[in-house]
Amino acid sequence: MPDQTRLEVALEALAPGRVQSLRLDGDRASVILDATGLSGEGQKALEADARALLAEQGAGEVRVLLTSDRVKRQLVAVASGKGGVGKSTVAANLAIALARAGRKVGLIDADIYGPSQPKLMNVEGSKPQARQKTLIPVPTPYGVPLLSMGQLVAADQAIAWRGPMAAGALAQLAEADWGACDTLVIDLPPGTGDVQLTMIQKYRPTGAVIVSTPQDLSLIDARRAIDLFAKAGVPVIGIVENMAGYACPHCGEISDPFGSGGAEAAARELGLPFLGRIPLDIAIRTASDAGEPPAAGTGPHGAAFTGIATRVAAWLSKGAPHAADQ
Ligand SMILES: Nc1ncnc2c1ncn2[C@@H]1O[C@H](COP(=O)(O)OP(=O)(O)O)[C@@H](O)[C@H]1O
Ligand SMILES: [Mg+2]
Repeated sequence: MPDQTRLEVALEALAPGRVQSLRLDGDRASVILDATGLSGEGQKALEADARALLAEQGAGEVRVLLTSDRVKRQLVAVASGKGGVGKSTVAANLAIALARAGRKVGLIDADIYGPSQPKLMNVEGSKPQARQKTLIPVPTPYGVPLLSMGQLVAADQAIAWRGPMAAGALAQLAEADWGACDTLVIDLPPGTGDVQLTMIQKYRPTGAVIVSTPQDLSLIDARRAIDLFAKAGVPVIGIVENMAGYACPHCGEISDPFGSGGAEAAARELGLPFLGRIPLDIAIRTASDAGEPPAAGTGPHGAAFTGIATRVAAWLSKGAPHAADQ
């Protein structure tokens, strides 16, 4: 009887980086290989070699499927040094704004401490289906399919995951059936500990967007987040300042409870792009709570998120590495 692990190792040695899946059912083996870039002859040779190897390892019946032109997918991590700074709000609106700009975007809620995307994206209570062992993302009203840790784990279940477990769960979400999605936005757990580092290292994003409020304390946390990505060799796309300037709902006067411009100054100091500023406005919270992210509408806050998305999209398309190339 063929052995899954041994077969995987042998196939990987035969065709490094090309093994997309291997399924065993008794002595029947089906394998999917990525043949991107190979000539017709090269493809035939790859298929023949894979068949020979599987037979030699004890498989009775062998199916080999070659795919090519696999979707080149870019992963954007949205991160913050601490919770409550609006990371999830920015992730949801960035995903929607990127989709409105023409990208095919999926959203991953990897925040094991406070998964909030099902609510933000108006699909609370939804459960993803699975085909074989592959999860199928849940469609949302905003054209951005979603998978959330919150859909996999009961809300009241205390989650005290160690890094490797959280990374394994993220891999399950990231390797779901994202179909034609070319961009995945990931709402990472806040903080700069082992859980975050392991996730980043295992699932190396193309780039990271750091969210901070203008406060000093929050900026110190943001700097830690930036260091974390530097350590993992993941480029930082830039910094978003959230909750800047409070517009009084009665008189419209702008006050700055958390100061303003701190994140922009920090970005300049660190030599990082400043991606934009989102004001502190109760309307953002009420819209978010109602599952109607501002980026999906036509209001002024939508425009602020669109501006940020434009800068992120420009960074992604100016030759940033694709996940599939890494
Ligand atoms: N710019 C903003 N103005 C008003 N409320 C905001 C703003 N950004 C986020 N919030 C609210 O603050 C709370 C925390 O935001 P959230 O995105 O969940 O933060 P995080 O994911 O960093 O913990 C939510 O209730 C959210 O609606
Ligand atoms: Mg959050």
